Amino acid sequence: MALTELEISGYRSLRNIQLPLQQLNVVTGPNGSGKSNLYRSLWLIAQICEGSFAKSIAKEGGFLSAMWAGPRLNHKKPFRMSLGFSTDDVTFQLVTGFPQPSGSLFCFDPEIKEEVIWVGPQRRKASTLLERKAGLTWFRDMNGERVEYLVTLSENESILSQLREPHQFPELFQLREEVRDWRFYHTFRTDDEAPVRSPQVSVRTPVLSHDGSDLAAVLATILEIGDAEKLYETISQALPGRTLRIISNEPDFTQKSPRSTELGIGLEADGCSRTLLARELSDGTLKFLCLAAALLSPRPPFLIALNEPEASLHPDLLVPLARLIVDASEFSQIWVSTHSMALADAITEISEVQALQLSLSNGETIIESCYDE
Ligand SMILES: Nc1ncnc2c1ncn2[C@@H]1O[C@H](COP(=O)(O)OP(=O)(O)O)[C@@H](O)[C@H]1O
Ligand SMILES: [Mg+2]
Repeated sequence: MALTELEISGYRSLRNIQLPLQQLNVVTGPNGSGKSNLYRSLWLIAQICEGSFAKSIAKEGGFLSAMWAGPRLNHKKPFRMSLGFSTDDVTFQLVTGFPQPSGSLFCFDPEIKEEVIWVGPQRRKASTLLERKAGLTWFRDMNGERVEYLVTLSENESILSQLREPHQFPELFQLREEVRDWRFYHTFRTDDEAPVRSPQVSVRTPVLSHDGSDLAAVLATILEIGDAEKLYETISQALPGRTLRIISNEPDFTQKSPRSTELGIGLEADGCSRTLLARELSDGTLKFLCLAAALLSPRPPFLIALNEPEASLHPDLLVPLARLIVDASEFSQIWVSTHSMALADAITEISEVQALQLSLSNGETIIESCYDE
């Protein structure tokens, strides 16, 4: 499944955005122009499918904070935040607003006002697969008949996350599972206490977790069943003179309570008489290894989204990173929000994909044009 369009309105600086998407999407612009808001809107779509939409909105400060705070054309109309996307096959739209005023402590929670999924480019009755509106939900069954969905739904979560009958909704299940597969990388933990700096119990891990804590297991998995040659080559280009080593302890079964194998990361460095351990590596080096692990996954997700991956990377690492991003776009759809023109330029140089340039006008994110030059 590839995303063909993102349609967001009423979310932070995204008053009303329709953004056609490609296999590789690079978004750039000055600070505060809305790069992270666009990235987060994708993350929210993934949370909708997980059933964590309301909690995610709460975590970023609540619905009042997330709703578009700029000028509104019609103040009499109730506020609506809408998140939607299209794939080659279907379009999904979720419209949320405030619940009816009441004395409830949850009166500022988002409430689903409308939810609809249709097939093809235009929303028509005949092409609608599912519609939820004004307390009523119906879906189109396998015979093409409109059937009422009688299950009680949580009012602040999408029906997509609450479906329980895969045999009845095969396309919707597939859509949900594919969106749940998306991966988001915004910050990797590299502080002194970060799990990535200590050995971790080993388990074969083809996809890096969002915070990079299972880095050693993912790198070891790539070396065993993935593109080991590419991983070594990337590291030798980005970190000249250094070679990756996965350090493991052998479980000792003679002990009363043997511990499982633990894996850690090490780098052999020219001129260094011993392997440097993860706790001794710089933030930038660990971060680059995380990005390499995410982008060289032996089980590429449908979509990988990176928010400001250039943060704390030395400029010399941007070209190898651009190469990883472009190569990964062969297997996964890619979203990159960046304020590094050097990274955007390097991606264009390798792939000819132009970055989208954002700006802020009257508090609203505007898609200026394709970055050119
Ligand atoms: N609720 C809101 N309504 C309107 N604008 C908002 C809201 N919340 C944040 N913003 C604006 O969003 C912008 C920050 O967007 P962000 O995506 O973080 O920028 P960047 O491009 O630096 O990643 C700021 O200009 C801020 O004023
Ligand atoms: Mg940002």
